[in-house]
Amino acid sequence: MSRRSTCRVCGKAIAPFMTFGRMPLANGFMHPAGSGGTFVYELTPAVCEACGTFQLIEQPPPGRMFHADYPFFTGTSSRMREHFRELAIDARRRIGGATARAVEVGSNDGTLLAYLAAEGFVACGVEPSANVAAVARAKGLDVVDGFFTPAAAQSLRDAGGPVDLVVGANVICHIADIHGVMQAVDVLLSPSGLFIFEEPFLGDMLDLCAYDQIYDEHVFMWSATAIAHLVSAHGFVLVDVQHQPTHGGSLRYVVARHGSRAPAASVAQQLDAERLAGLGDPERYVRFRRDCEAARDELVDALRRLRADGRRVAGYAATSKSTTVLNYAGIGPELIAYIADSTPAKHGTTTPGTHIPVVPVEHFHRRPPDCAVLFAWNHAAEIYAKERAFVDGGGKWITFVPTVSMHG
Ligand code: TMP
Ligand code: ZN
Repeated sequence: MSRRSTCRVCGKAIAPFMTFGRMPLANGFMHPAGSGGTFVYELTPAVCEACGTFQLIEQPPPGRMFHADYPFFTGTSSRMREHFRELAIDARRRIGGATARAVEVGSNDGTLLAYLAAEGFVACGVEPSANVAAVARAKGLDVVDGFFTPAAAQSLRDAGGPVDLVVGANVICHIADIHGVMQAVDVLLSPSGLFIFEEPFLGDMLDLCAYDQIYDEHVFMWSATAIAHLVSAHGFVLVDVQHQPTHGGSLRYVVARHGSRAPAASVAQQLDAERLAGLGDPERYVRFRRDCEAARDELVDALRRLRADGRRVAGYAATSKSTTVLNYAGIGPELIAYIADSTPAKHGTTTPGTHIPVVPVEHFHRRPPDCAVLFAWNHAAEIYAKERAFVDGGGKWITFVPTVSMHG
């Protein structure tokens, strides 16, 4: 376990502004007969007053989180597939030239790698979770096993030379050794190359009170302010930043070697907006803590009332985010009978720490509950569209970001 009292970016002292309590691994779905799920850590976020980096005090060892049974597959969401196609096109537009080499950090099942290849990149992934890497390889994609370290970057460079693009989507926020990431980018990237990555945005997380974005794998919740600090320490500069609608609001960062490209106006605008929103202001986090407590109590009250009324309540999508909500709020099978999920690897397991059975979505179709808590609220549009029959049959969705709402 790495427990920090200093900022992972700038080294200044940090202290937690709240605790979500003892937590199991967010993706530690438990098999009835097996072990798993017994590991706990304390989920305590902090914000560095010096550089603005939002980070966890404690993070479980990476090997406990990213391994051969990692149950998350990027390609599950059709909207995310479409989004990654757009990301590949955007990268191609920014990087000219007839042939270009790309390396993807955390390439998972190869969804983005395949789009990069379709855009003419010679693309290779680096992925520590063997099961998802195997899915990418089965599609004929090139994937190296392991974490994205300076040593891994050096062997990629030795094998094929520098690359024009290092890209990551919803992955850089998972990596505690963030200076190791920047050193690896420095080893691998060509003089005019770009490091493009996108991550859930701290400002949206605070505004929506989407506290379920905070869990072990998300050791950082990035902002442009923090990224600008980080990359400048390695001779890089943030040259563009674009807001994205994914995961309740994300930022796409475009980073280049210092002096290789002029920053777009978007960078200064974003930094100003973050200052105005008080992202570096301790008072903002006092308010966030109160919002989290109120949101938690509101959800539990709503579920207890439904239970008292004899309504059957299930959950939809056993997301990693749900582990924070369920454990923080103390919600178990007495309030949510089961959670339906499309990932076969999660079927027959129970939710980490709270023991709610995870079942196939077919179960939800066969015996729909009266109400379904949508844990994948970030995929709401896609899920409402494909589960129209649930509402047509009288079912109600319950969402809890930004506040609890029940709707047909
Ligand atoms: P996440 O992207 O918010 O982490 O959510 C991923 C989980 O949601 C994963 O277990 C699959 C599940 N899921 C469904 O069950 N049905 C769906 O339509 C979608 C988009 C996700
Ligand atoms: Zn700092």
